Amino acid sequence: MINTPLALPCGAIIKNRLCKAAMTERLCSRTGIPNHKLTHLYKRWAETGTGLQITGNVMIDRNHLESAGNIIIDSDVIHPEFKALAEAGKIQGNHIWVQISHSGRQTSRFVNLKPKSASEVQLKKMGLFGKPRSMTESDIKDVIVGFARAARVCKGAGFTGVQIHAAHGYLLSQFLSPITNHRKDQWGGSLDNRSRLLLSIIDEVRKEVGPDFPISVKLNSADFQRGGFSEEESIEVIKMLEESGIDLLEISGGTYEKVVFFLMNGENTRESTRRREAYFLDFAEKVREITSLPLMVTGGFRTHSFSSKAIEDGAIDMVGMARPFITNLDEIKGFISGDTENLLDLVIRTGVADLEETAEAGFYARNILRIAQGKEVKFKFSSVGNATFFVKHEFVKGMARRIFGSK
Ligand SMILES: Cc1cc2nc3c(=O)[nH]c(=O)nc-3n(C[C@H](O)[C@H](O)[C@H](O)COP(=O)(O)O)c2cc1C
Repeated sequence: MINTPLALPCGAIIKNRLCKAAMTERLCSRTGIPNHKLTHLYKRWAETGTGLQITGNVMIDRNHLESAGNIIIDSDVIHPEFKALAEAGKIQGNHIWVQISHSGRQTSRFVNLKPKSASEVQLKKMGLFGKPRSMTESDIKDVIVGFARAARVCKGAGFTGVQIHAAHGYLLSQFLSPITNHRKDQWGGSLDNRSRLLLSIIDEVRKEVGPDFPISVKLNSADFQRGGFSEEESIEVIKMLEESGIDLLEISGGTYEKVVFFLMNGENTRESTRRREAYFLDFAEKVREITSLPLMVTGGFRTHSFSSKAIEDGAIDMVGMARPFITNLDEIKGFISGDTENLLDLVIRTGVADLEETAEAGFYARNILRIAQGKEVKFKFSSVGNATFFVKHEFVKGMARRIFGSK
């Protein structure tokens, strides 16, 4: 089933059911313009034969970055490097979609001491995030314009679709969640109001890209926090998304405060969840009952037979996979054809809870850089080295941005 095409509502066809889900690359300089490393990385990923690639977070505002090394699209200029990246990502007839994003309060202090968010609710995590300011009406309008402009640039550069990032606690997810959205105006309060920003963005993006261009949304099944965006609310938002005419819904979950999308892997996963292999599949089955939108679940898929069966059973239309595109890169081709059944979980763990997340992020960041440089993936890094690489990388690039500006 994985190696069969998928037709989207807009008419686009994806050649198979595997998607390389978004992984932040952290490879840009402070200008945010792509470079040859990114081009090489996406060419290498395209060579796996995956039907769809979704880029890591591409930011619409250089003062609100998820990582100091993000790609940025905040003007109408289509740099030749964007075209080169789009070309590289589709050399095997793959689709390459850009994940458009705004980090809101999840912008580290290295990049911005006072980021903007739905409300003034600070992200408390190792003192890394400043207290946000609440967005004004004009800030919100700028965000809508920013997403629409980025989508226009992506289409102009030759990318074959866009994904609006409304999951994982970034700005649109901050607006959706009652924990981070305390607004009393038309952008806060009821679920209709909290969803207004996401739906307004989809409308404007559709106007920019026309009816034939794929638009996807990445949405949380839930925040997994008491009082946060719940499964029931997510179901209601999905009904609204169906009306808005998107082409693929990707389901994930969690925020920086509850990183379920990242750490639920291998030994961190509850037995019951591991048996299900893919953590958001139960939720997808509920979603299936209320929508005919094409569905993709990301997180935990590692075996061909399980992934194929999820499609065959009609639970999902596409399998989203991220980490194996680093750790099992040479096996992805076989996974698509069915010759490789199992992508072993090759992540190395520290055993030190406080260090785990940063060390793991460093491990992936280092190896994404290696793939982008044409090197082999390396597993024997020390965990402390991985964590240090990560923090140094974000700190140095973030400070360079502060000192020298970002244009
Ligand atoms: C290194 C790394 C970077 C990530 N960056 C992003 C990102 O930019 N945008 C996003 O939506 N998800 C991001 N994710 C989450 C993945 O898309 C995916 O949801 C998660 O890794 C679970 O899938 P997996 O079990 O197949 O790895 C990232 C994950 C990793 C490991």
